[in-house]
Amino acid sequence: QLVLDTLDKFGTIQDTRTLVLPGYTDPAASHDSQIIILGALNSLSSREMISYTTHETVSHVLTPEGAQIALQGSHEARVWNELPRKGDGAPMTPKQLEERVGSETAKIGQGRAFKNKWISKEGDGLVKIAPSIEDNTQVELREVDSTGTLKSGEKPLAELRKRKLIVQRKGQWFTIKKGPAFSTSIAKPETDLTIDMLTSGSWKTSTYKKYNFEAEGLPTNGGALHPLLKVREEIRNIFLEMGFAEMPTSSFVESGFWCFDALFVPQQHPAREVQDTFYLSDPAESLPPPTAYYERVSKVHEHGGYGSTGYRAPWSDAESRKLLLRTHTTASSASMLYKLAAKCRGEDEDKSTESAAAHGSSAQAEKGGDDGFRPAKLFSIDRVFRNETMDATHLAEFHQVEGVVADRGLTLADLIGFMRVFFKKMGIENLRFKPAYNPYTEPSLEIFAFHPQLRKWVEVGNSGMFRPEMLEPMGFPKDVHVHGWGISLERPTMIRYGINNIRTLVGHKVSLESVENSPAVRF
Ligand code: PHE
Repeated sequence: QLVLDTLDKFGTIQDTRTLVLPGYTDPAASHDSQIIILGALNSLSSREMISYTTHETVSHVLTPEGAQIALQGSHEARVWNELPRKGDGAPMTPKQLEERVGSETAKIGQGRAFKNKWISKEGDGLVKIAPSIEDNTQVELREVDSTGTLKSGEKPLAELRKRKLIVQRKGQWFTIKKGPAFSTSIAKPETDLTIDMLTSGSWKTSTYKKYNFEAEGLPTNGGALHPLLKVREEIRNIFLEMGFAEMPTSSFVESGFWCFDALFVPQQHPAREVQDTFYLSDPAESLPPPTAYYERVSKVHEHGGYGSTGYRAPWSDAESRKLLLRTHTTASSASMLYKLAAKCRGEDEDKSTESAAAHGSSAQAEKGGDDGFRPAKLFSIDRVFRNETMDATHLAEFHQVEGVVADRGLTLADLIGFMRVFFKKMGIENLRFKPAYNPYTEPSLEIFAFHPQLRKWVEVGNSGMFRPEMLEPMGFPKDVHVHGWGISLERPTMIRYGINNIRTLVGHKVSLESVENSPAVRF
């Protein structure tokens, strides 16, 4: 309002340092006053009520020591003040002086007061000799404090700077002119054109807020892909470009039969115990699996066959029918492979219900040179569950990436070669393989990759050639070999995003903001 009224009266304001702000008696020369004025200028000029130009200045402000002197006087003046007049009582000892003004003021003040000939020695003590003094330092500092400078010029300013009583500060002041929308009252500009304004005609005389094309829009409230989903998409693309088809993996609940028995995992295997696997209590049992296949699986476990001695341990139907949360996606791979072998069993792939008669026609197909087998490359990326103690790198549920290749005469070299190609597409070139054990694969290999940041070899996956004890009961011809491998989705995602605690990636501690801001992944 001050700016508008002054402009109304004089047409322009040459120098805003001449304005006297409401509540002040002196002109607004100080830095803080000009900042207050600048705020008003910005808001008035956005309404086009004024325009202004900025001038830079260098001004001075007091240091804490300078401020103290402006208030209490210079060290030398304080010393002079304390001392008795010469011939007017006993001289003051340096010790007494120190007690009164403090050691710093006593030390610095004495030196300067001697130099100014304000005081002198008398015996062991000190007295003042100047009848009156003028504390120039204090006067100057008070001037700097209120005007930012000294009328007497640059030399005494430089002296005060050298004494570290003042420092330079950049400031600004402004010249103001009327703008096209000048008025002495600030009307709140309209931001919307409303039906009321149109019908009443008030739109013609209203003032409008200028459209700000620079303003950033409100952030959109759309969904965002979780980092795991982004990495899943990239891995899925690698599989697809290598000619793999995605397996259906929606059955989180499986039976002991498909999760373990079909994979030739012994019924006594520790992985099947409750501390490793989540079992369902309701319903607790699965529907019966395909009869003939079930018979062959139980037989190879208990008594062997297909060149195997089996486990020679009693078979339990109950164990096989227990319902559980699948501990690996290999459960889905097993039922997909069983479906893939349907033609070899002489069945219709879609129906996949087995009968003795159907088995007969498989033998016929073999005689005719076509045993019904078709090669397949299958993959899945989905969730699995393990009853594990949770820590920084383990959760009770995670995702597995799994690939399965079925063809005649596949060898371990095919598996290794395939993995080199696959991991290379993920940007991992340095691989090592280590012999390992899985009940359903022989040989089995653990896959290690060199981690360039950690500078060590880390396990990235598990793989192997599926056993004949698993494949032959399904009905695959002997020369059909299947290799498979699995990696977790979380491990490459954590490496990719530099996350070292899995709980910042999955679970209730995940920040939605980090999900929204996580960049896309390109392998
Ligand atoms: N199922 C294995 C695991 O959970 C991975 C695997 C899949 C190993 C296929 C061999 C063949 O670690």
